[in-house]
Amino acid sequence: MLSWISETQFPLYLAPMARFTDTVFRQLCKEQGADVMVTEFVQADAIIRGDDRLWETVDFTETQRPMGVQIFGSNPESMAEAAKLIYHKIQPDFIDINFGCPADRVICMDAGSSLLRNPQKLALITQKVVNAVPEIPVTVKIRIGWDDRSINATEIGHIAEEVGAQALTIHGRTKVQGYRGDANWEVIAEVAESIKIPVIGNGSITSASDVLQIKNNTKCAGIMIGRAALGYPWIFRDIKYTLKHGTPPNPPSIKERWETIIEFSENIMARKYQKERHKDIKWMRPKIIALTKEMKGSRKIRTELGKVDQIQDLKELAELHIAHYGNDS
Ligand SMILES: Cc1cc2nc3c(=O)[nH]c(=O)nc-3n(C[C@H](O)[C@H](O)[C@H](O)COP(=O)(O)O)c2cc1C
Repeated sequence: MLSWISETQFPLYLAPMARFTDTVFRQLCKEQGADVMVTEFVQADAIIRGDDRLWETVDFTETQRPMGVQIFGSNPESMAEAAKLIYHKIQPDFIDINFGCPADRVICMDAGSSLLRNPQKLALITQKVVNAVPEIPVTVKIRIGWDDRSINATEIGHIAEEVGAQALTIHGRTKVQGYRGDANWEVIAEVAESIKIPVIGNGSITSASDVLQIKNNTKCAGIMIGRAALGYPWIFRDIKYTLKHGTPPNPPSIKERWETIIEFSENIMARKYQKERHKDIKWMRPKIIALTKEMKGSRKIRTELGKVDQIQDLKELAELHIAHYGNDS
């Protein structure tokens, strides 16, 4: 039983997103109402090797709980050992196993969504991890299948349940689809009907009405938001407010958005390994671009960000932008 899921609680998860959902970004989403968070995936073998930077990747604060750490790999023993190491070192609330990543470097090692083609091995990995960390629940994140002709989320859902997984997150796209096209919510709904453990639905959620539709029309026990949160972490607040009051809250002003972006950038730069590795904030450009994408004049900001070197430059860009757009949102 996951304590954050019940008849009365329909949690909003922030999706794990490599290179984006570090502890600073998660904190931001938590403050805006995200209920459950999962770290980006970390490779089991790298955890076993003891790479210190990886521990920074899975770092979280107490306020971010309930917090899961997501692992990926192909060797059942290594996955079990990594889960145990993680549990003993940082005590997350759950371990999540990645069976959804479509990236070539992950598929090559027969990990991530590659394992959707090998249900037996997927079962063995899940079972070993479940046995390795009896203290906490293990959950599993999958896609609906490898391609359109091999959609097998229901089969995988039953397998995961049988070997002891306590929840299943389904990203409603196939491996071959990557991140393109619509998520297939029919398949997600079918799986949620057919297995007993909670299903967290994921894919293309961008609004409170999407969430309401899923809540009312499927047996999903919660939802997970990915890319929509990267550009607009306020989405969690907006969804909760809209579900409660029937209308959306006022969006944050341009000034508020920039204050958030600057504080976010300063917090990222204050982290130990970032400080050691980077003398400027150029490497953070994709994160900042994501956060400014929904703002007026975002294309111009994107070009201007090319010239930004230090936080001070970012502050100057913010001032110019605020002066231009005033109190707009
Ligand atoms: C940049 C990026 C990185 C991602 N990294 C991970 C990851 O580490 N683990 C994982 O399970 N899914 C990862 N995903 C997939 C998301 O968790 C989510 O399933 C997917 O984006 C679909 O949700 P959305 O349509 O709301 O974006 C990633 C997605 C993106 C865009």
